[in-house]
Amino acid sequence: MNPTALKEHEGAHLDATRQSYDTVAADYARFVKDPGALDPVSRAVLSAFAELVTSSGLGPTADVGCGPGKVTAYLTGLGVSAFGVDLSPKMIELARAAHPGLRFEVGSMTALESGDGELGGILAFYSTHHLPPAELPQVYGEFYRVLAPGGHLLLVTRVGEEEHQRRTYGYGDGDPAPFDSYRLPADRIAELLERVGFAITAQTLQAPDEGEKRPVVSFLARKPTTAEAP
Ligand SMILES: C[S@@+](CC[C@H](N)C(=O)[O-])C[C@H]1O[C@@H](n2cnc3c(N)ncnc32)[C@H](O)[C@@H]1O
Repeated sequence: MNPTALKEHEGAHLDATRQSYDTVAADYARFVKDPGALDPVSRAVLSAFAELVTSSGLGPTADVGCGPGKVTAYLTGLGVSAFGVDLSPKMIELARAAHPGLRFEVGSMTALESGDGELGGILAFYSTHHLPPAELPQVYGEFYRVLAPGGHLLLVTRVGEEEHQRRTYGYGDGDPAPFDSYRLPADRIAELLERVGFAITAQTLQAPDEGEKRPVVSFLARKPTTAEAP
């Protein structure tokens, strides 16, 4: 795809995702579990990430695709200086109302507002799967760009054989909302993260929970310091 066509395509699918999450935002906020009620492995991974970013002494942590901000607030409770970024203005409205002391911004992980090397951490918690796989190198490249050397990424997503799924219903009994989701094998995600420069420090694979078909992978990855870079 030439750059102009790619830009148009990118705009169209981001608009569609934004519109769908705007439609379901209130239902989603009711539906999604409080992180404190998540399974022990998910909480352990979030705790490990929190410890890594707080002990690094680097900049703040962006929760990209933060939705209603529950995980942003959970990280804050673990001592992380966290803020949220989401494509959906409705989600950001709900996040601000629920957590008035925290910072939430409308934005896209395809082009983050943060400057080069400004952040100590990036969390992408079930938020990267709406992006077509061809765009992941750019998005992972954005994560790498905004992290300070020595900064940490936690990426949590469902995995599967390369597939594209279109779902037309929302959360709860809200209005119909189309969602495109793309699943990749964990090895493919690891390869793409390493290709932009990340060093993967830990990986967990969790069996699908009840009612789900796909396992969940969590990657902890680090941007090497200048001294460590190859
Ligand atoms: C399944 S929800 C997860 C929300 C939150 N991380 C949580 O676990 O509660 C996915 C979120 O990612 C956001 N999102 C999707 N594509 C995005 C993009 N390109 N940039 C920023 N946010 C995005 C959606 O608006 C939605 O709020």
